[in-house]
Amino acid sequence: MADNALSPDDIARRLETKVLGRRIFAYDSLTSTNLAAKDLAESGSPEGTLVLAEEQRRGRGRFERWWYSPKGLGLWLSLILRPQVRMERAPALSLLTGLSVVKAIRADTGLPVLIRWPNDVVFRDKKLCGVLPEVEPGFVILGVGINVNHCSFPPELLSIATSLRIELARSVERTELLCRLLQELERNYFSFLDGGELTPLLAEIREFSSLMGKTVRVSTVDQESLGQVIDINEEGRLVLRLASGRIATHIAGEVREVR
Ligand code: BTN
Repeated sequence: MADNALSPDDIARRLETKVLGRRIFAYDSLTSTNLAAKDLAESGSPEGTLVLAEEQRRGRGRFERWWYSPKGLGLWLSLILRPQVRMERAPALSLLTGLSVVKAIRADTGLPVLIRWPNDVVFRDKKLCGVLPEVEPGFVILGVGINVNHCSFPPELLSIATSLRIELARSVERTELLCRLLQELERNYFSFLDGGELTPLLAEIREFSSLMGKTVRVSTVDQESLGQVIDINEEGRLVLRLASGRIATHIAGEVREVR
């Protein structure tokens, strides 16, 4: 069941941020909010500009996958960021965004969701949210998709995805969740920009991480490692102890738990 359509006026009235979401573009249907935000950024839209869609016809996911974005059931959003830090630090944005989503969902619903490094939010290992930062010269598009009021998923996603409605057995008001998310994200983003470091956020990132102590396989385009997760470090890297005892770190990659 869908709640009311997202209304920029309603969001603006309820939002307590200074920068994020102060300018809003809301659409009924888009190919992808990340693509629309990129066009807006290229024509000079300022930091914090928010693009929302009720539905995405071809939402973008990681690794060239698509993101299931049915009408009125999720939060499909992109923010234009213009961080004055070296763009190599952009992967840290995924983690601080994951942390912000976790805190917003916990505060709004009480559901004890976790961050699955580097950019998912999960409940009982099923994905509730994905984050897709796309780095361009001079700006970053930060895409966030949250499965809110879905009652079901296509068969191929059933074993890996879930929604807040499925887990809570009730629907969730999207505007409230969106406002909490933008407020959390603004606090964490500016704390990160102040020092160019994740350090002030690390304790919470570790506390809410689903992977600490787990044995995982991390795959990147040119390498694969299997080991036990022993930390997430100041740069946002996943730190593994391999079977050989050697320590390996990853800044990006796809992680699968090995049971
Ligand atoms: C992932 O693969 O986990 C990342 C998914 C990111 C999906 C969101 S939905 C809003 C924004 N616009 C897009 O096209 N993708 C992101």
